[in-house]
Amino acid sequence: MNPIRVLSVLAALAAPIMIAQESKKETYRDAKAPVEARVADLLSRMTLEEKVDMVSGGGWMESKANARLGIPAIKMADGPVGVRNWYGPSALTMRANSPLPTVTSTAFPAGVALGATWDPDLLHEVGKTIGQEAIALGRDMMLGPGVNIVRAPLAGRNFEMYGEDPFLSSKLVVGYIKGMQGTGVMATVKHFAANNQEYQRQTIDAHIDQRALHEIYLPAFRAAVVDAHVWSVMSAYNKLNGHWCAENPRLLTETLKKEWGFKGFVVSDWLGTHNTAPTANAGLDLEMPGAESIKRLRAMNVPQGPGDIGQRGAVLTPELLMPEVKSGEVKEAAIDDKIRRLLTAMFANGLFDHPKPGGGQVDTPEQRAVARKAADEAIVLLKNAGDALPLMTEKARTIAVVGPNANVARTGGGGSSSVKPNHSVSPLDAIRERAGSAIQVTFAEAMPQAAELAGKADVAIVFAGDSAEVEREGHDRESMDLPAGQDDLIQAVVKANKNTIVVLNAGAPVGMDRWIGQVPAVLNVWFPGEEGGPAIAGVLFGDTNPSGHTPITFPHRIEDSPSFGNYPGTDGVVNYAEGVYVGYRHYDTKNVEPLFCFGHGLSYTRFEYKDLKISAHKTTLTVRNVGPRDGADVVQFYVHPLKPSVDRPVQELKGFRRTYLRRGEAVTVEFPLDSSMFSWYDGSAKKWVADPGAYELRVGSSSRDIRLKGNYELK
Ligand code: BGC
Repeated sequence: MNPIRVLSVLAALAAPIMIAQESKKETYRDAKAPVEARVADLLSRMTLEEKVDMVSGGGWMESKANARLGIPAIKMADGPVGVRNWYGPSALTMRANSPLPTVTSTAFPAGVALGATWDPDLLHEVGKTIGQEAIALGRDMMLGPGVNIVRAPLAGRNFEMYGEDPFLSSKLVVGYIKGMQGTGVMATVKHFAANNQEYQRQTIDAHIDQRALHEIYLPAFRAAVVDAHVWSVMSAYNKLNGHWCAENPRLLTETLKKEWGFKGFVVSDWLGTHNTAPTANAGLDLEMPGAESIKRLRAMNVPQGPGDIGQRGAVLTPELLMPEVKSGEVKEAAIDDKIRRLLTAMFANGLFDHPKPGGGQVDTPEQRAVARKAADEAIVLLKNAGDALPLMTEKARTIAVVGPNANVARTGGGGSSSVKPNHSVSPLDAIRERAGSAIQVTFAEAMPQAAELAGKADVAIVFAGDSAEVEREGHDRESMDLPAGQDDLIQAVVKANKNTIVVLNAGAPVGMDRWIGQVPAVLNVWFPGEEGGPAIAGVLFGDTNPSGHTPITFPHRIEDSPSFGNYPGTDGVVNYAEGVYVGYRHYDTKNVEPLFCFGHGLSYTRFEYKDLKISAHKTTLTVRNVGPRDGADVVQFYVHPLKPSVDRPVQELKGFRRTYLRRGEAVTVEFPLDSSMFSWYDGSAKKWVADPGAYELRVGSSSRDIRLKGNYELK
């Protein structure tokens, strides 16, 4: 036998033995082995080159796979209000003559609308449903939710967030993440931290004192990590106190990983990295998107809007990262930590054992029902003088539906959160459907026809407000004014018919002073998702009793807002000089009368609050529905320090309960008390302080409709 043949026969004989040994050794492939053991095993099998390779992205929405070891890519999609098309900027997807398919999914109401529900259980349902759709579409990880606090009324992404209060945002984000991650889909809380404006979003340096940072801007992220165990955190584009968020060791390592015990991985915002070793050493674990996608994007010269994308490329590619590791600038242990985190998340979420093949169903009746429930709960009745709403069908025989937002479903704001639903119904169509043949519905988009129709109708409904072109990512609004011509339209219509109802799409504060005194009723429907049309019709006709409460203050004028004078910044720096006085903390403490205060929302019924009882560890009260209809109330609990040792907001939200009550029904609502509710953050001592002494506990239906008060002594 020739020597080569001898060798191959020997090799063939040895092969089964080697395979047997190999498979015995491959703990990481054993679905029954503990995650930690699988991670340790796989990590030990990876070469340095393979580990370094895994730190930067594979495609626009995929991490890199490793074929030799069978490590899958993490497949992502944008959220947070539905699964967005993941093929990236549309031009990137346009391969010559073969456009990639468009992904559709259920479009849920915008973040601020979800904020208006004050309903963590609903957020759980929404997160779960989006998780189910992500699985149906073959995605492992969603890029959402967003919990940046609404600081400045004009910031372009306000509509994506849960509002101006850290306590409310914290409770809601926990519900959402638990719902989503319960399905096995990883959530990504973003953008960490202080991404509170779109103006110069990729370069702005947010200067924030430690107290404001801990009391206002960080709590919802902390809750996402500590209470909901989120698997992924996305670093923000901007700088925080002089350091890029993506290469900020204080933020990513000290606070997030050490102090909060974050076990997941940090992903960069898209093209939000700057320098190789500082990024790797600060604690960023995965850079996105992949270098090739960036090159293709540049080659296609996709217009991205001012300030977007810039000229940078990926900075954690093997070509750039490996020399830093070889030179010792980045320790191999730091790389191991990143891979350990990525693999832990992947094993724990079944990426190795249960790949998601896609091809499932989305936008099913059950999923739509969740979107509808969310829209129902989100709609806020801002004003209802003389019970103008609900519409009395005996009296409203002719309804003039007018305005630019009537004949179109404004499902969401613009940018990476925008979802393409399979179906949506405009408010006009939904009203027609609900009105039936007995009521005449007329329609005109603009003046003077709109005013003419209003003059002939029993009731006029003006659909005004923003669109996805006005409120969008990558761009801040220039003023709080409604889009051009809309104030005039509303005034002309109300002049023609005093029974005019205004329905707004406003994901952020808009000015209403020019007409608010003239119109009897105003609804804000935010961006209500694909089921917005029927949800709006339901509230107008009284099939649904409105129960949303605004999670943002609507000031009369931009000059009244806390960030005024310190927004959008100069010379690349935005100074958060208002400190902790954000939102109602500012209006209430400085006695600035808002147009609509934080927590405000009317109902078609009335709720009575009684029997406030305060004991050492809890506050209780009775809430009774004393009005004419069944409905839901949101009871709000605020703490007012009577003798604070430092300058403090006059009151802060520390509890809330949404409760549905039938006519005449009553319930006991309980708010447990703990020291965190009385604490403020001492920036120099770097710790929370709960001053003993006297506090007033307040219960109300909004921050300015406080109905019960009692004193409490913190020992
Ligand atoms: C946005 C992120 C988004 C990412 C991917 C960025 O421009 O800031 O919120 O997840 O793009 O689309």
